[in-house]
Amino acid sequence: MNIYTFKQEADFVSTGASLIVSLLHTKPRSVLGLATGSSPIGIYKRLIEMNQQGLVSFAKASSYNLDEYVGLPEGHPESYRYFMNDKLFNHIDIKMENTHVPNGNAADLEAECRKYDAMLEANGPVDLQILGLGHNGHIGFNEPDESLVGGTHVVGLQEKTRTANARFFPSLDDVPTQAVTMGVGSILKARQILLLVRGEDKAEIVKRALKGPITSQCPASLLQCHPNVVVLLDQGAGRLLS
Ligand code: GLP
Repeated sequence: MNIYTFKQEADFVSTGASLIVSLLHTKPRSVLGLATGSSPIGIYKRLIEMNQQGLVSFAKASSYNLDEYVGLPEGHPESYRYFMNDKLFNHIDIKMENTHVPNGNAADLEAECRKYDAMLEANGPVDLQILGLGHNGHIGFNEPDESLVGGTHVVGLQEKTRTANARFFPSLDDVPTQAVTMGVGSILKARQILLLVRGEDKAEIVKRALKGPITSQCPASLLQCHPNVVVLLDQGAGRLLS
C-alpha cells in the first residue's frame, strides 16, 4: 500500500488525475471503477479539462460506479447517476452507453444486483477502482457489520452514513434508507485501487482502516489485503499517520 499525504489540494488532484490519465494512455479500453462523494470531484474536474484539451480520451473506456441510492426518482440531483453525469460524463468523450451505475429504481433489485455482477464479470476486472471512505469505514456503501457481502447487493444505510449525507438533502428524513452497492469481493477484484480521502474528520478512520486490524467492522481495512493500493490523503485526513 502506497500512502501519500498532500499539503496542497492541487497536488492531490494532479497526482490522482495523472494515475487515471496514464492508465488511459497505455490502455485506452480501460474499465474504470468510479465513486461519488466530495473527494474525487477535483480529480474529475481535472480530467474534464484534460479531455477538452485533447490530452486524454475516454472514447474507448467504460465505467462502473460503486453504488446508488434506492428509490430516488430518476433525475434526482442527489442520485449518483445524476452526480456522475453532471460532474464527469456529460463533459468528456466517454460513450454514455459505456457508463454503468446500479439502478436503484429497478422493480426487482435482486435481479438488478445479479445483472450488475454479470456485467462486471463479463467486462472486468476493473483496471482502476476509485474509492472514498465513509466516516464509519465504509467503502461504496459496504457498512461495518459482523460479516460482509462479496457481490452487488441491497444494503440498509446506517444512521451515521445517513447523517453524514444529510447535508445534501433538505432534511435527514429525505435521505434514502437503502442503497445498492458493489460488494467488497467485487471491489477487491480491481487490478488497482485508488483510495481518496480528504478532511480532518476522516483522520481517525483513515488510521483504523490503513493501520488497524483487518475486520468487517471497518470494511476499508480489507484494502490492506490488496496488492496494489494507492492512497491519496490531504493533510487533515493523514494527520494521525506517522
Ligand atoms: C458516500 C458514498 C461513498 C463515498 C463516501 C465518501 O457515502 N457512497 O462511496 O466513498 O460517500 O465521501 P467523501 O468523498 O465526501 O468523503
